[in-house]
Amino acid sequence: MSKPGKPNLKEVAIRDVILGENVTIVQPANIYGCILEDGVFVGPFVEIQKDVRIGRGSRIQSHSFICELVDIGEACVIAHGVMFINDLFSTGGPARGNKQLWKPTKIGDRVSIGSNATILPVSICSDVVIGAGAVVTKDISISGIYAGNPAKLVRGMDEGSPLSETSI
Ligand SMILES: CC(C)(COP(=O)(O)OP(=O)(O)OC[C@H]1O[C@@H](n2cnc3c(N)ncnc32)[C@H](O)[C@@H]1OP(=O)(O)O)[C@@H](O)C(=O)NCCC(=O)NCCS
Repeated sequence: MSKPGKPNLKEVAIRDVILGENVTIVQPANIYGCILEDGVFVGPFVEIQKDVRIGRGSRIQSHSFICELVDIGEACVIAHGVMFINDLFSTGGPARGNKQLWKPTKIGDRVSIGSNATILPVSICSDVVIGAGAVVTKDISISGIYAGNPAKLVRGMDEGSPLSETSI
């Protein structure tokens, strides 16, 4: 076994953030270089990377990870442990800092994303619910409730009864 060394410690921080009014952040959280608009709530153990925008009145619950190139609209709820992805490992492994390989994600307004969902680089229109544990692999352009891996339409927003599974 090698000799014990000293770890290279880095502190979590909230830095270079453009803040609207009445923003709440529960620490510890690692949030940098992003925009949190009026009334945004961020729970503990969240990371929000640079150039992200969180729209007015949106809530990011604990343990979620929001990476560069993600844009979240207004009045959204990102529940606990939601993971966003910008690097698809498209060349057989991580992009290793080559941001040209990263892809963006755009979330509309009033989108609720259930706990433990994974959002690949996609565009999701306004007025959508994503179920807990879903993996969203394709753009969603029709309002409704989506669940599963890969996520599929469960039913429309105003429908009481589930539809037969429809591919998104
Ligand atoms: C997706 C969701 C919104 C659907 O709710 P609903 O409209 O009441 O749907 P139902 O419970 O009637 O289920 C409809 C079908 O979808 C399936 N389903 C429901 N939620 C699912 C999920 N998260 N993943 C996979 N399938 C799901 C059900 O098993 C059911 O399938 P069936 O018709 O074959 O029996 C809800 O189940 C969910 O996951 N909400 C997220 C809640 C959350 O994460 N909150 C965070 C704060 S605590």
